[in-house]
Amino acid sequence: MPDQKLISEAAAVVSKAQVLVVSTGAGISKESGIPTFREAQTGLWSRYDPEQLATPQAFLRNRDLVWSWYMYRLDLVRQAQPNPGHLALVRLEDLVPQMVILTQNVDGLHVRAGSTDVVELHGNISRFKCFAACRGKPTLVDLDPASYSKEIAPPCPYCNSYLRPDVVWFTENLPTAALSRAFRVAEHCDVMMVVGTSGIVQPAASLPVVAKQRGAILIEVNPRVSGLSGLADIFLQGPAGEVLPALVDALHPA
Ligand code: OAD
Repeated sequence: MPDQKLISEAAAVVSKAQVLVVSTGAGISKESGIPTFREAQTGLWSRYDPEQLATPQAFLRNRDLVWSWYMYRLDLVRQAQPNPGHLALVRLEDLVPQMVILTQNVDGLHVRAGSTDVVELHGNISRFKCFAACRGKPTLVDLDPASYSKEIAPPCPYCNSYLRPDVVWFTENLPTAALSRAFRVAEHCDVMMVVGTSGIVQPAASLPVVAKQRGAILIEVNPRVSGLSGLADIFLQGPAGEVLPALVDALHPA
């Protein structure tokens, strides 16, 4: 955990923010039991590289393997609860004039925690769509969890293609509306807090760069140095589930 002086310094910066943007990655959900992407995977999937599974080419090559991996992750997400890091961000929203969360996570935990302005840059693992986008992009399909296989990708009900999760895969574009809102708020925020991301996947990794170029103060929360740490004005080293509650307490003692 960072010392109290650094937490107080970050709290003073946040307390002056008019528009606070919080940009989150897999690290914020780790304490909810959801594995990150670039740290060691455990168990069944330890021998697979997530980047090898999260592409349209992988789905074409081995559809059921990709489907099973996402169903495994979806099960983890369904069992998971928001952790103190997510909940601290809900409290923080009431303490600043405007706060927007830009998340690379597909687990929906910010919304489940109660945050009200969340931009999901990489989609949501609980939604499904036709791989062929047969009725336009995206062709969303309601799927009853009780009625589908966890091992075999279900067929699209409208065409002869298959269903896939409504997440962004490598080589695919991010949803246009989410991406343009993200860059708009990054350009206009006065403070950006970057939490739990390795900061190497584009275009999300450019958001702090844009914010900093436009004069925002950058605060980073991460137990380890990341690709973005060089840019940070204040680096709060530690797990989000401990650092974020401490930061919010410093702003607004309970
Ligand atoms: P990564 O797995 O690349 O990075 C996770 C980051 O979280 C690392 O910097 C860890 O040090 C940090 N971390 C670990 N535990 C933490 C904790 N308790 N509190 C705070 N931070 C912690 O995940 P992302 O940067 O989110 O994209 O990955 C970005 C994208 O790459 C994902 O959205 C996904 C992936 O491939 C797509 O699938 C398109």
